[in-house]
Amino acid sequence: MPIFTISKEALVGTAALGAAFAAGVIIGKKRAPWHFGTRKEQKAFYKKGDPLIDYMLKHSMREHPVLKKLRRRTMEEPEGINMICCDQSQFMANLAKLICAKKVLEIGVFTGYNTLNMALALPDDGKVVGCEVNNDYINIGKPFWKQAGVEHKIDVRIKPAVETLDELLAAGEAGTYDFAFIDADKKSYIEYYEKCLRLVRKGGIIAIDNVFWKRKVLKPGKNDIECQTIQHLNEKILRDVRVNISMITMADGVTLAFKL
Ligand SMILES: C[S@@+](CC[C@H](N)C(=O)[O-])C[C@H]1O[C@@H](n2cnc3c(N)ncnc32)[C@H](O)[C@@H]1O
Ligand SMILES: *[C@@H]1O[C@H](CO)[C@@H](O)[C@H](O)[C@H]1NC(C)=O
Repeated sequence: MPIFTISKEALVGTAALGAAFAAGVIIGKKRAPWHFGTRKEQKAFYKKGDPLIDYMLKHSMREHPVLKKLRRRTMEEPEGINMICCDQSQFMANLAKLICAKKVLEIGVFTGYNTLNMALALPDDGKVVGCEVNNDYINIGKPFWKQAGVEHKIDVRIKPAVETLDELLAAGEAGTYDFAFIDADKKSYIEYYEKCLRLVRKGGIIAIDNVFWKRKVLKPGKNDIECQTIQHLNEKILRDVRVNISMITMADGVTLAFKL
């Protein structure tokens, strides 16, 4: 877009972000307010200390302040590494907004960083249905969802995800979801994909996390069922005429399947 056609709103927005950045740099001791965190907080998927990743995060993250708090709180947990990468979550929230999503499915909520990001991207009557087996993680996330004012959009079902997906199908919700994110136990990935494909509408998106499985898909171990399942799913989706696809080299690999 040529510069002279930039709207007034866009200019005001740019100025506001500029001010936020300046404030972050000054108050936050040379740290942008949406900074990913300390090195220790960064996930292993990114090459350790790669300055390009720092650059990418510093030049793209617009993290909501409550998301930032939840990320920090989650990293205090021993299993904190299970949390989604913040840039991936922002990307998916942008995609959800792009397709005007109102109903989102999250398989594997954990402390709900991505669930919160999605809820923030949805209209006030939007809904995120979350699948999770461990209520302790949900109890960590809930106060943050409340603080961000979107708790009413989040509905977490504490039981194995397959059961929840079957219940949604039985309740006649096939074809009503706009976006599904698959990020729970890997051994059930194929089942999750098939059920999501029924629950998502035409033009909807299914995002599948960890499709590189820490690079192990290149050479899975003989008894590595999780890796083999991911590899099978990758092969299956490649040939699946029901979807258009992109496999994104972000975080631990993310496949986007666009339902035809
Ligand atoms: C990688 S974490 C999810 C991260 C999360 N999407 C985020 O935004 O940070 C995977 C989660 O799946 C949950 N999980 C494992 N098996 C499950 C199952 N059968 N049904 C539902 N959730 C499950 C785990 O308890 C864990 O919290
Ligand atoms: C999406 O799928 C349709 C139907 O198979 C195909 O004609 C089209 O070329 C695909 N588009 C892309 C961008 O892959």
